[in-house]
Amino acid sequence: MAPMKALLCKRYGGPDDLAVEEIADPVPNQGEAVVRVHAVALNFFDTLIIAGKYQTRPEMPFSPGAEFAGVVERVGDGVSAVKAGDRVLGYLGYGAAREKVAAPATRLVKIPDALDFERAAGLCVTYGTTLHALKDRARLRSGETLAVLGASGGVGLAAIELGKIMGARVIACASSDEKLEFAKRHGADEVINYANEDVKDALRRVTGGKGADVIYDPVGGSYAEPALRAIAWKGRFLVVGFAAGEIPKIPLNLALLKGCDIVGVFWGAFVERDPEGHRANTKQIMDWCVQSKLSAHVQAVYSLSDAAAALKALAMRKVMGKVVLRP
Ligand SMILES: NC(=O)c1ccc[n+]([C@@H]2O[C@H](COP(=O)([O-])OP(=O)(O)OC[C@H]3O[C@@H](n4cnc5c(N)ncnc54)[C@H](OP(=O)(O)O)[C@@H]3O)[C@@H](O)[C@H]2O)c1
Repeated sequence: MAPMKALLCKRYGGPDDLAVEEIADPVPNQGEAVVRVHAVALNFFDTLIIAGKYQTRPEMPFSPGAEFAGVVERVGDGVSAVKAGDRVLGYLGYGAAREKVAAPATRLVKIPDALDFERAAGLCVTYGTTLHALKDRARLRSGETLAVLGASGGVGLAAIELGKIMGARVIACASSDEKLEFAKRHGADEVINYANEDVKDALRRVTGGKGADVIYDPVGGSYAEPALRAIAWKGRFLVVGFAAGEIPKIPLNLALLKGCDIVGVFWGAFVERDPEGHRANTKQIMDWCVQSKLSAHVQAVYSLSDAAAALKALAMRKVMGKVVLRP
């Protein structure tokens, strides 16, 4: 088989420990399709998976990169949902940062011509997680207030945009005025700079003392508890991630006093347990993107050999929206 280029993690470490090497082309097994990858969207968890600090620890060597878009090259036995030449996006968990991937056909969704590969690559995990969180887990209702922490990051931006589509009043919280300007441009109604103001006081101030109905937290660290202290009666606090590094320990009396729910969000498990629900959500997200209701904003596109720079930007809190690799 002809060789292809792959970004490889051969030992746990930082972005500079990754290597681009030539490996054999993949062959599709039963139920799989080989996709020529045109774009791989990176996520914060790619910085963790290569360091051995993520819940998934793949066998070495492996490629990071969970979500991708490209063109089907060939299909294995038993595949009828996609065929050679189809433009698709897909989700693998890891392994997509290479020129070609073999993916289960059930993990692929056809994309319309109007959607470019770079934006399509970043729709699956980022917007998928957030639609699952807001719709399936928090049951966000029109007219409710949604506070988003880390609002300019990948899932944060998705929460602003999906929150607006669902009719919420969105309060974006982030660590710099530049990030908050970006959040406003993408639809945030109110902004809070939590580098300058206590999140609890600020959320109470902008909600007239009532608190936020839904809090979307992909950051954790020192922001989660103060935010929870400013949740509304019967509010829903969405535990999405811990980009700040520390998993907060929340005093449970807060849930009692607020009559609120602390709700876990595990999108990868949702995809496994409810593939039909996942496909329906992905289709909905794609439709909204084609209708220009979602930006799927890409901050920068990097080559495979510049992947370290892209991962460092994520780790150093410098990305607004998504960063994408073009293998
Ligand atoms: N539960 C799920 O199913 C699921 C699915 C996808 C992702 N996630 C998780 O969601 C989190 C965000 O992912 P993402 O890809 O959207 O990340 P991202 O684009 O890097 O955004 C993360 C945001 O967190 C904030 N942050 C605060 N402290 C940080 C630190 N020390 N390092 C980096 N960022 C920091 C930053 O905003 P400020 O500078 O404004 O604070 C940043 O914009 C990750 O923990 C990821 O694992 C969970």
